[in-house]
Amino acid sequence: MSGPLSPPLRAALAAAAEDGIVFDLDGIAAQYDELVRELPGLDVRFAVKSCPLDEVLTRLADRGAGFDAASPGEIALALRTGVPVRRIHYGNTVKSDTDIAEAHRLGVPDFATDSVEDVAAIAAHAPGSRVFCRLATSGEGALWGLSRKFGCSGDDAVRVLEAARAAGLTPAGLSLHVGSQQMTTEAWRQAFDSLAEVLEALHRRGIVPDHVNLGGGLPALGYVDRRGRRLEPPLDKIFVVIREGIERLRDLSPAPLDLRMEPGRHLVADHGAIRAHVSRLTERRQPDGARERWLYLSCGKFNGLYEMDELRYRLVFPTHPGKEYVPAVVAGPTCDSDDAYPPDHPVRVPRAAASGDPVWVLSAGAYATSYMTQGFNGFRPLPYTWADGHGRS
Ligand SMILES: Cc1ncc(COP(=O)(O)O)c(C=O)c1O
Repeated sequence: MSGPLSPPLRAALAAAAEDGIVFDLDGIAAQYDELVRELPGLDVRFAVKSCPLDEVLTRLADRGAGFDAASPGEIALALRTGVPVRRIHYGNTVKSDTDIAEAHRLGVPDFATDSVEDVAAIAAHAPGSRVFCRLATSGEGALWGLSRKFGCSGDDAVRVLEAARAAGLTPAGLSLHVGSQQMTTEAWRQAFDSLAEVLEALHRRGIVPDHVNLGGGLPALGYVDRRGRRLEPPLDKIFVVIREGIERLRDLSPAPLDLRMEPGRHLVADHGAIRAHVSRLTERRQPDGARERWLYLSCGKFNGLYEMDELRYRLVFPTHPGKEYVPAVVAGPTCDSDDAYPPDHPVRVPRAAASGDPVWVLSAGAYATSYMTQGFNGFRPLPYTWADGHGRS
């Protein structure tokens, strides 16, 4: 891929006179195509939560993507693309009776699960459905771990799928998620080890799943670390481990095994960027005597950068090229102290940054629109536009 600032994104950011998020739809489509090339034969189901915009979903559906939906609301969004409902699965292990019944009414065939309680509810409200059981992972190595709330042990997974079979459901598969923005190949190796182990345990009990869903976790390439250096996730090596892992699972399966994945961040993060502006650069003495500079931006945790306590974005100050830069803690505009990067590693910002100066926040395309509050502190949600200039939200 071309990195976090493609020429169309750069042009759109440079042309923007007001704050907003710009997406490069062609970049997202190209990223999808590249993923399909890297992992041929894999059924890619975009995680709607990461960028639930009609235009993005439709562009991906047109390329052949299916969808991972986390609620009936997301199922409805996915259906608006015209994708056949069999290409949508309910990927959230957490759902109420009415959520299950609504998904069933809409025709969704597959449900994620991780407990016998949920299986009983699916049997009651979506009889005859297919279920896949999510295995727990540690989330280690990921910048945004997804552990404990979801997934169960291998032993439990066997019990859960046996309960599904006994309840008249089809025990159709296994899934997991190695944690979002997973930075290691080791996490993927462990994932395939536990998938292989549980598949074999299932086979011994006469359950032969027809698919495995590898979840999300594929990284974006444009974030920086706390010192401002480009993160370098070993993407090529991750793909090698995944290709080998898929082969291993297929080899040990007595029947054909389909592989799915439900990436979110990897497909959209580097193809969206925020045009924000400087609210104020200040210098203050703290009660412990430390002098600190703080750079307050017009966007932060509550309007576009929800993940700012775990992730760092590259900031570009287009009106201050090559000028003097100084360290500052970067924060959003609200009256909430959570609305800031952790202060331990300040960011280099222009010494002369003035209120109103444009700031570009790169690789902000994932989870930005979906995690945006509805006007916390009176800061309105950022509108979004397309790098090719079509349409405005
Ligand atoms: C079930 C499920 N699948 C897929 C994803 C997408 O993960 P990522 O953005 O790391 O690709 C998530 C993210 O929370 C998830 O919960």
